[in-house]
Amino acid sequence: MGTFIVIEGIDGAGKSTQAKLLAEWFEKKGYEVVLTKEPTDTAFGKLIRRLVLTGGKEGIIDGARISHEAEALLFAADRAEHVHKLIKPSLEAGKVVISDRYFYSSLAYQWARGLDLEWLIDLNRFAIRPDLVILLDLPVKESMKRINGRSIKTEFDKIVELQKKVRENYLELAGRFPEIKIVNAMASVEDIHNDIVALVEHELFKK
Ligand code: TYD
Repeated sequence: MGTFIVIEGIDGAGKSTQAKLLAEWFEKKGYEVVLTKEPTDTAFGKLIRRLVLTGGKEGIIDGARISHEAEALLFAADRAEHVHKLIKPSLEAGKVVISDRYFYSSLAYQWARGLDLEWLIDLNRFAIRPDLVILLDLPVKESMKRINGRSIKTEFDKIVELQKKVRENYLELAGRFPEIKIVNAMASVEDIHNDIVALVEHELFKK
């Protein structure tokens, strides 16, 4: 079996940058790495981007275009394809899988939308548990600054209140899921990467 690592955090936490750096770190050590993300680029992921993320004038905050439950089911369907078509076979082939977001995103975000956490956990029970989840944590004020510098924005990104709730949810989930380790995402890209590597070595290689 390979190694499964997930990077989580609010929008603008620096997940994709850190996922890429970690993938390169593993590659340099000679591992075969699969760098992936959710929502995926498959048909389900595309559907999510079309129905949920691109918003519309009404957006997803005030009167979602689809119900919150349907949204959660779409994310779960996308994840089921992700697990069965990519994550599981890659792990079985002994590879290192690094995913930018996973079911913890559904727990943090869809819970923030008012859905029942236990229902969300049940819905995602099929999802293979990762060996390590790195939660990039930072204040929303800081993440919003980073997002504003990005050219493409989603409806999600704009809403500070939701992000605050999502951050709180992630921190609460860290108390419930022992595989979640919190990393301070306020530091420089390099320092955060070094913290992540230290965690990986400590948690997975027991150095
Ligand atoms: P994001 O990682 O920002 O993707 P991209 O940069 O490609 O647009 O994810 C898009 C949004 O989807 C983000 O605000 C978090 C949200 N999301 C959920 O609400 N639930 C989920 O299960 C996942 C995977 C993402």
